Amino acid sequence: MTLQEQQVAELEEQALGEIGQAATPEEVEQLRVKYLGRKGRLTLILRGLKDLPPEERKLVGRKANQAKEALEAALTQALRTLKEEALRAAAVREIDVTLPGRRHPLGRIHPLTRIMEEICDIFQRLGFEAVEGPEVELDWYNFEALNIPPDHPARDMQDTFYFNDRVLLRTHTSPMQIRVMEQRRPPVRIIAPGKVYRRDLDMTHSPMFHQVEGLLVDRDVTFADLKGVLTEFVHQLFGPEVGLRFRPSYFPFTEPSAEVDIACVICRGEGCRVCKATGWLEVLGAGMVHPAVFEAVGYDPEEFTGFAFGLGVERFAMLKYGIDDIRLFFENDLRFLKQF
Ligand code: PHE
Repeated sequence: MTLQEQQVAELEEQALGEIGQAATPEEVEQLRVKYLGRKGRLTLILRGLKDLPPEERKLVGRKANQAKEALEAALTQALRTLKEEALRAAAVREIDVTLPGRRHPLGRIHPLTRIMEEICDIFQRLGFEAVEGPEVELDWYNFEALNIPPDHPARDMQDTFYFNDRVLLRTHTSPMQIRVMEQRRPPVRIIAPGKVYRRDLDMTHSPMFHQVEGLLVDRDVTFADLKGVLTEFVHQLFGPEVGLRFRPSYFPFTEPSAEVDIACVICRGEGCRVCKATGWLEVLGAGMVHPAVFEAVGYDPEEFTGFAFGLGVERFAMLKYGIDDIRLFFENDLRFLKQF
């Protein structure tokens, strides 16, 4: 190896060493200038080749060109590595782990679903089993078997949506009394929550609303049992201090029948707009199962007695959450729903 070749080899080694040490892209750039720039050390050697004797020029030239390629590759590689490292470091800096996390929007349980679950929970703890049935119902279950014959005035009260003479949207959950009694023998102890439909719409009426039906049939069931169960229910839902009153009423499928009022939970019985200054709120219908209903399902009215009740879920939700317009439940305005 000639002296010149030796020098080129040493220069290459030195340059590669320095490139390996470079800590920033700027330093790499400076090394490029130092060795390969217009006045760079390797550039000068390449330029000086023309002054060498031909034999030597060929040997040194090959060596110098190889060195130039090696340095260019090393510079490019060093630059790429440093840039990648810089990017990674920047990304780490941009994640500020001390910032509070971003909250994911959470859905809520609809107030009606919530009160429905609360109501069902209470009755389930009292030993009632929850059952569900069809909203599209036969006249037989909605009216006929419940002791409401074709021309009975109670049919008007419930302003029904009809599909045809025999098929309708159930106007109450009472048909579930019949469906369950057709299938089972006493003792029967069920609740039936679900949607019901009536042709009605204003501040306190919606064409679709929810009821929870209750039915208990056994030997020796009395009106006292009905009072006991409903009192316990109201006390669990609204608090043990809330007063109840059972008013005589009429339903074709119960005898005797009652409407149950609770002391106004808004004014505590003082009299306000919600209770129309009476101090009382009507919250459910109830009574002892009518013998004609037992006969329709093949139960012996001499052997069994029972009670039934039906409550409006929206009514309870409005009282519990202080809502004065039933339509709010069905508009699905997020500003309303987010409050629960
Ligand atoms: N079904 C009646 C209504 O919708 C309520 C009720 C149920 C009354 C059971 C007595 C017994 O108004």
